[in-house]
Amino acid sequence: MGRSGPLRVLVTGASRGIGEAIVSRLSADGHQLALNSRTTADLEQLAARLPGQTLVLPADCTDPTSGDDLVRAVIDEWGGIDVLVLNAGEGVAASITSTDDAMWQRQLDLNLTSPFRFIRAAVPPMKAAGFGRIIVVASSASKRGEPYISAYTAAKHGVLGLVRSAAAELASTGITVNAVCPGYVDTPMTQRSIDAIVEKTGRSRDEATATLAGQQPTGRLIAPSEVADTVAFLIADSGQITGQGINIDGGKVQS
Ligand SMILES: NC(=O)c1ccc[n+]([C@@H]2O[C@H](COP(=O)([O-])OP(=O)(O)OC[C@H]3O[C@@H](n4cnc5c(N)ncnc54)[C@H](OP(=O)(O)O)[C@@H]3O)[C@@H](O)[C@H]2O)c1
Repeated sequence: MGRSGPLRVLVTGASRGIGEAIVSRLSADGHQLALNSRTTADLEQLAARLPGQTLVLPADCTDPTSGDDLVRAVIDEWGGIDVLVLNAGEGVAASITSTDDAMWQRQLDLNLTSPFRFIRAAVPPMKAAGFGRIIVVASSASKRGEPYISAYTAAKHGVLGLVRSAAAELASTGITVNAVCPGYVDTPMTQRSIDAIVEKTGRSRDEATATLAGQQPTGRLIAPSEVADTVAFLIADSGQITGQGINIDGGKVQS
């Protein structure tokens, strides 16, 4: 069943883009928000803007102990953890032949191994409480291959597999595990992709933006708040939606 009242929520990659939209929405909904990214000053400024209770937890999510450390910090402060939103992630564009081992490993560490470690840390306290909502911010790249992002695509496909397996394993525990799979969202990460297109092709910013907007059949970039709306919906769900990768991409992927 769903839970009424304020929930204790940990969000990774919270300081800008999709993460910032998620914490703004959930804080406005009355939940308690533990905010993670690598940059303490950004988190403190964000915490000051949010209406509800906050906890600032700076850490690099690729640090092998960060999952255990952050989950424990939330429990120490608030007595439990109800919701985990694993949003920290990054994509780099490179052809297969220019993807070196270090780049490949960084993509897997951040987009796949880090969510695994956070889920592993949060499951025991959520199981003990008989309730949990775990949401991974995956990507349309979790379901469909595009050129020049092989490491990112492999990691995002992998993390959807993790979500599906965890959901199956935990289905009878009160914990749901889902992914949201956005197309191109209007965030600093997408602005960096636009910069890269301008640099590599000589096209104007408007043309580069139009190219990425055109990737969605609806013809526009997704708003970060549209991803946050879906996360809020999954948190409020009564518990029958689990193991899903919900597309937020204007209809690009239809499965
Ligand atoms: N933008 C899109 O079009 C799009 C589409 C589909 C999926 N996604 C996914 O959505 C998620 C968020 O993307 P976004 O566009 O909002 O990215 P963004 O604008 O680059 O923001 C990324 C956030 O993650 C934090 N972060 C990055 N590396 C981190 C690390 N190692 N440890 C902890 N925090 C870290 C950043 O803060 P610091 O740099 O200060 O750590 C920042 O708060 C990612 O998983 C991405 O793959 C994005």
